[in-house]
Amino acid sequence: MSTININLKHTKYTIHIEKGLLDSIGENVYRIYKGKKIVLVTDKNVEKFYLEKVLKSLRDNKFEVEYISIKPGEQSKTLNTLEEVYKKFCEYELKRGDLIISLGGGVVGDLTGFAAATYLRGIKYIQIPTSLLAQVDSSIGGKVAVDLPYGKNLVGSFYHPQAVFIDTKVLNTLEEKFFNDGMAEVIKYGLIRDKTIVDSISNYSNKEEVLDNIEEIIYKCCSIKKSVVENDEKDIGERMILNFGHTLGHCVEKYFNYEAYTHGEAVAIGMAHITKRSENMGITEKGTFDYIKQVLQKYKLPLEMPNIDYNELCKIIRRDKKAEEGSINLIMLTKVGESRIINTDIDDIEKYII
Ligand code: GLY
Repeated sequence: MSTININLKHTKYTIHIEKGLLDSIGENVYRIYKGKKIVLVTDKNVEKFYLEKVLKSLRDNKFEVEYISIKPGEQSKTLNTLEEVYKKFCEYELKRGDLIISLGGGVVGDLTGFAAATYLRGIKYIQIPTSLLAQVDSSIGGKVAVDLPYGKNLVGSFYHPQAVFIDTKVLNTLEEKFFNDGMAEVIKYGLIRDKTIVDSISNYSNKEEVLDNIEEIIYKCCSIKKSVVENDEKDIGERMILNFGHTLGHCVEKYFNYEAYTHGEAVAIGMAHITKRSENMGITEKGTFDYIKQVLQKYKLPLEMPNIDYNELCKIIRRDKKAEEGSINLIMLTKVGESRIINTDIDDIEKYII
């Protein structure tokens, strides 16, 4: 097992990474939670594969466990689903000292984390991310949220879990499209901070080879996230580099109502598009776009901006929660493995996009 400790001003927790860890999840939870009651939140897809195993292991360790299973997909990350989840918490008489577990990908993790942050003004929770995207990014760092009709993650909080348990074996059941979705975030980490990540995944010949090395890949991504989040927990400085490709990506996702592109696919488009522009503008070293292109294509990720009304797109960007007082921070690469934050007037956004 590899572990990474996240040390923040008001809290600390450990990320545990191990193949097959779900088999002993009950024992692992027992090490950090001495109460009885647990409410686990999952979705209908993850439920089919892992719920029984996790419930059994928790119940074998004498926990009283109830569960809630939501509809899978970004369309569930809403205030309506949140209300359903709160109702179940009430029915299960969840109290402040009890524990919530999120078992699922980014949607389940973000929604459950936000429910945990707000129900009874905060209940302890644990993240068990089951998608690659959640394992390398969304389950770590305490960003929890739901979407509004106006945009993604517009209602949320910073609320850290008690622990994150990553079982890399669950990635074997991930459909290729969703595996590649997670690879987009892996590529992002490499591009902003560590060229060796992108170099190695560019050289693997197939998914099996990636999976043979996945523990190391996840460890490297989580270590970057640890360092960035420890320096800037509340996303007012360095942490913004994790948004590379995301401003455009979120807009693309939202523009197509979360139906045409996965989060990773939209981020891939965002990373490629902004890099093409920043390279033309002399901000990014020549050749970077071509380098990004080969690795995104290798993982069947899209590069091209879809046919989109750019005025509508710029409107969505202006509503982005990262936009403030007439300006927005865009993340660009100086070269592969190095990134910088560029603060631009919101009215100049077109020049970076169009
Ligand atoms: N996913 C970006 C962040 O956690 O800041």
